[in-house]
Amino acid sequence: MDKKKFKRTLVTAALPYANGPIHLGHLAGAYLPADIFVRFKRLKGEEILFICGSDEHGVPITITAEKEGVSPKVIIDRYHEMNRKAFEDFGMSFDNYSRTSLPIHHKTAQEFFLKYYENGILKQKKELQYYDEKAKMFLPDRYLVGTCPHCKSEDARGDQCENCGSYLNPTDLINPKSKITGETPVLKETTHFYFPLGDYQERLEKYIAEKDAQEGWKENVLNYCKSWFQEGLQDRAVTRDLDWGVKVPVEGFENKVLYVWFEAVLGYISSTKEWAEKQGKPEEWRKFWQDNETKYLAFIGKDNVVFHCIVFPAMLMSWNDLSEEKYILPDNVPANEFLNYEGLKFSKSRGWGIDLKDFLEHFPPDPLRYYLASILPENRDTDFYWRDFQAKNNNELADIFGNFVNRTLTFTAKHFNSQVPEIKKLSEIDQELLRQLPEFKEKIETLYERIKIKDALNETMNLARLANKYFNDSQPWKTIKEDLDACATTINLSLQLIRTLAIMLSPVIPFTSERIFKILNIKEDELKIWEFCTETKLKAGHKINQPEIIFNKIDDKTIEPYLKSQEKSETKKSVTPDNSDKIDIDEFKKVEIRIAQVIECEIIPRSKKLLKLKVDLGFEQRQVVAGLAEFYKPEELVGKKVLIVSNLKEVKIMNELSQGMILAVEDKNNNLKLVSVDESLPLGSILR
Ligand code: 2FM
Ligand code: ZN
Repeated sequence: MDKKKFKRTLVTAALPYANGPIHLGHLAGAYLPADIFVRFKRLKGEEILFICGSDEHGVPITITAEKEGVSPKVIIDRYHEMNRKAFEDFGMSFDNYSRTSLPIHHKTAQEFFLKYYENGILKQKKELQYYDEKAKMFLPDRYLVGTCPHCKSEDARGDQCENCGSYLNPTDLINPKSKITGETPVLKETTHFYFPLGDYQERLEKYIAEKDAQEGWKENVLNYCKSWFQEGLQDRAVTRDLDWGVKVPVEGFENKVLYVWFEAVLGYISSTKEWAEKQGKPEEWRKFWQDNETKYLAFIGKDNVVFHCIVFPAMLMSWNDLSEEKYILPDNVPANEFLNYEGLKFSKSRGWGIDLKDFLEHFPPDPLRYYLASILPENRDTDFYWRDFQAKNNNELADIFGNFVNRTLTFTAKHFNSQVPEIKKLSEIDQELLRQLPEFKEKIETLYERIKIKDALNETMNLARLANKYFNDSQPWKTIKEDLDACATTINLSLQLIRTLAIMLSPVIPFTSERIFKILNIKEDELKIWEFCTETKLKAGHKINQPEIIFNKIDDKTIEPYLKSQEKSETKKSVTPDNSDKIDIDEFKKVEIRIAQVIECEIIPRSKKLLKLKVDLGFEQRQVVAGLAEFYKPEELVGKKVLIVSNLKEVKIMNELSQGMILAVEDKNNNLKLVSVDESLPLGSILR
């Protein structure tokens, strides 16, 4: 990696839709890693700006409003405030949390649109679009439901089938219906503006390759981009027939708005402008957006990759071609995969999951921040499990870190009159500890700089483990009677270590770190920063305050209601097999499972999950489509022997023929692993 030096950093976190409460999945996807990273940079004293806000347009909001029979404004006001407050209580340290309904945003978005429009960048196209004659409105893709042409699922939306993951156009749907009235829509002509995304493909590919070489982009992000490029970028409509949103500032188009994704990404810029105005320096936003010495990191979840790595950069490139004021492009887009809840996807409609607001009514924020940070879906989907949350809180926060802090503080209070004792001599154990501290610091720093949050936390907890071991090995309860100088050193260094750990852990558990600084009676900012965190800065004789328990254990009773409510949940019921429903052996015998070998394999463009494989059954070759792309690279599969259900009816998935199903097992983190097969077994053999 060829690291470029920057003067400052701009961090944005995806603007959440103000149409529902933030849940834990959102936090683990984008917000918590961004906050931890930003807090770490601030600890280092670097200049950094952290921008977010509510995404207040778009169809999900108008659908919620219609369901409730209220105006979209009622919905966005409710959820903007709810989410702003929940984020604050969770310790999100945004410098600005804006809203895309503000005039400053509408103005910014229209300015971008007009720049393209006036310079002839946008194309106007007439097209046929579904229209609901009863509701008297054009139906955006999400307002349409129908049968998926690929998997025949009956509740596919006009933009995507959630069942098989294929991206759809509204006209692909079989038997489409309007979500508003349930009527069958008619096709009607309408005109829209298109942004010529395809014209930017070559430059985008080069841009991503260059930034990857500089910053080391994540594999998952690069793969998503690659599949878009393979498919070939197309013109994208940037207007919609709706009345809720940013109005199209062109005569004759007054009844249309800008497509939500076209303007939402610009919300980062308008939120920065709002921040600058609040500072009383209205031009200050330019320092973050229009200076090459600013590094820009966009934290998002995996479903937003195309908009941040392709659409937004292309929009900025286009603006830069037309203007003297040049914007910087994202230097890295560290998108996370998804967090599931107790083995299943979070689902608002099926009541599966827990909202941040509800969570914080019963638990303090730091244990949640700690637990989520330790299971961030950085490379693949992970799960929130209540039992796991309880175990991490009790066994790690309370038993490792909390215990070390508590035993050191009570010992100091009891034997050293609540004062930091003086170091008169250093044993080998003490010296070894002091030698290791800067090594930890460097390692943790490198991991944070590479945005490997989970690993950075793990390494920090290794230091907390080491601290406990140091206390144990030094046996101060013995040396207090036999060797007072040795005991004083142990307690001095343990107190220093509490400060070290409080600083190092402060990006993850900021509330607790503040409490610890108070107990340690540390007021000076200099004693709370990264630079000096491993130095022995607490002076002999420094008075500390009364010890307090910093982490309470969570007992079974506390989490039982959550476990119980899941058992009752409809979602769980619908996926838990009913045991009375067993099959007899003849039914099983109908399934033909054979050994096959993968001879070719490739990614299906524009699908996140699907691979197309050619397999050899010995007696014939077949094509199979399998949902393995998130778990295996094509080249890992070629040559592998696998088990395949060989007498399934043929189906078409995303326009590709699939003549069988490959068997894989799913672990508790929803990862699929192929069932391994003895390599000596002949192709085509049947499983009995
Ligand atoms: O997925 C979402 O919740 C979108 N509202 C994210 C928008 S990110 C950016 F474009 F503002
Ligand atoms: Zn489908």
